[in-house]
Amino acid sequence: MEGEGTETHGYIANLGVLPSHRKSRIAKKLMDAAQNALIQEYGSEYVSLHVRKSNQASINLYSEKLGYNYEIAANFYENGEDAYVMQKQLQEKQTDILGTHSTDSGDRHKSSVVDLLWQALSKKS
Ligand SMILES: CC(C)(COP(=O)(O)OP(=O)(O)OC[C@H]1O[C@@H](n2cnc3c(N)ncnc32)[C@H](O)[C@@H]1OP(=O)(O)O)[C@@H](O)C(=O)NCCC(=O)NCCS
Repeated sequence: MEGEGTETHGYIANLGVLPSHRKSRIAKKLMDAAQNALIQEYGSEYVSLHVRKSNQASINLYSEKLGYNYEIAANFYENGEDAYVMQKQLQEKQTDILGTHSTDSGDRHKSSVVDLLWQALSKKS
């Protein structure tokens, strides 16, 4: 989680599925659950991540299956490879009657993010 003041967004630092279990929609389920948890538990407005330009499986997953928008980040990795910065809007910024922006980003229920991920994985596709 990252954010200043009342504004928060989620950042996916890493996602991996064992080679023996790939192409079974596990990554899609994990990402759906993580995005739901970011909304419900943290009130996040958007989620972002970086992916190598050469990582076609991930690009397909995020852009085609999960609806992320992306733009290039040149020379992002140590070896000089470009990245795509991917971002998805999760919900609109909340505006109260004073006109200030806020999201419900309290510290509540942080441990239940893990529960949500397990629930998503145990559901049949
Ligand atoms: C990328 C990764 C997480 C995908 O995990 P997964 O559980 O196999 O993915 P899913 O089964 O949920 O696939 C969902 C969609 O992603 C795309 N996708 C997944 N694997 C793909 C592949 N090998 N080639 C092309 N597209 C692929 C497809 O669009 C797929 O939808 P489809 O099944 O209808 O074709 C997995 O390959 C992995 O762990 N890779 C190594 C680590 C990595 O690159 N992590 C991401 C960095 S942020």
